[in-house]
Amino acid sequence: DKAGHKHFMAKEIAEQPGVIGQALSHYLSDAGDILLPDAGIDFTQIDRITMVACGTASYACLTAKYWFEQIARIPVEVDVASEFRYREPPIPARTLAVFVSQSGETADTLAALRYCEGRAQTILSVVNVPESSIARESDLALPIYAGIEVGVASTKAFTCQLTVLFLLALKAAHQRGVLTDEALADHVSALRGLPSVINAALEKNNEIRDAAQKLSHAQDVLFLGRGRMFPMAHEAALKLKEISYIHAEAYASGELKHGPIALIDENMPVVVLAPHDTLFDKTVSNMQEVMARQGKVILISDSDGLADASEGVWATIEMPRISEALGPILYAIPAQLLAYHTAVAKGTDVDQPRNLAKSVTVE
Ligand code: F6R
Repeated sequence: DKAGHKHFMAKEIAEQPGVIGQALSHYLSDAGDILLPDAGIDFTQIDRITMVACGTASYACLTAKYWFEQIARIPVEVDVASEFRYREPPIPARTLAVFVSQSGETADTLAALRYCEGRAQTILSVVNVPESSIARESDLALPIYAGIEVGVASTKAFTCQLTVLFLLALKAAHQRGVLTDEALADHVSALRGLPSVINAALEKNNEIRDAAQKLSHAQDVLFLGRGRMFPMAHEAALKLKEISYIHAEAYASGELKHGPIALIDENMPVVVLAPHDTLFDKTVSNMQEVMARQGKVILISDSDGLADASEGVWATIEMPRISEALGPILYAIPAQLLAYHTAVAKGTDVDQPRNLAKSVTVE
């Protein structure tokens, strides 16, 4: 049942404030303590984290790397499961292995998990389907409470994965004594406000649809982001590829001049994800290099960022302001809607893109 929406994907994008609220209510006590099921996990016994997943779930891991490293000060490695499993990497003592999967049945992710059995200190999974193989074979499985996701392109599962991973990073930081009670309380209060901030982002639908209309004529699109926005650039490019069939690539903004800038001309739209944060000026200077070469820029930022840098850009999308840490969860929304409306403008099959399956149970 699409609940009045044209596609499951549209319905699932719109559900995000509600399901993120659900996930938060399962993991946060009224007093603001982070609750994990069973015995939870003791992060003082962990020296490093290895995260493994495929596709969109791997971008959730790459985002979480920033949180675990910057907030909890734990080194994190992220790999896609199909590479990890055959590389047979050494797993040092005191490693936490984390597997993220919506379906919990992805063959490569499951194989990577089995490789870590008996090697990693603890195997933790973040899943949408609690009865899945990946959940059953983990020491600890954290459900994301996104509800059934029908659209082949993952949307609400992604933002719920991010929400749960962020909570886990806060828990880790607090246990390890690198996050004060006050700082934890600030993060928790920002989290509790996330559903309403996401609602405000969803209200930018028309603005995003107008930008998508422009993108729908492109052959290739480049997505740029720095720091926490770099994984989001990857997710935005993947969403656009899979449902609109437009070729898209993501680059770390700072990598632009090491090659991809050669591609820039008036036919190459460049989408820049740049909240007005500590890295904003750096990203904007890369964006200006694009515009100096006639590249057409779609800038996604907040009111401060757009006031500073929207001169000469092709289109803008204004996001609400948000804490720096939670930026990636919010910027997932324009990434999803941009892909969605581009696909609708092109008339492709949004919920059942060609050649793709919802659950990839063969390698
Ligand atoms: C992209 C997408 C895929 C999945 C990937 C992993 O929109 O849906 O990239 O994220 O196949 O699937 P799960 O999370 O079920 O392991």
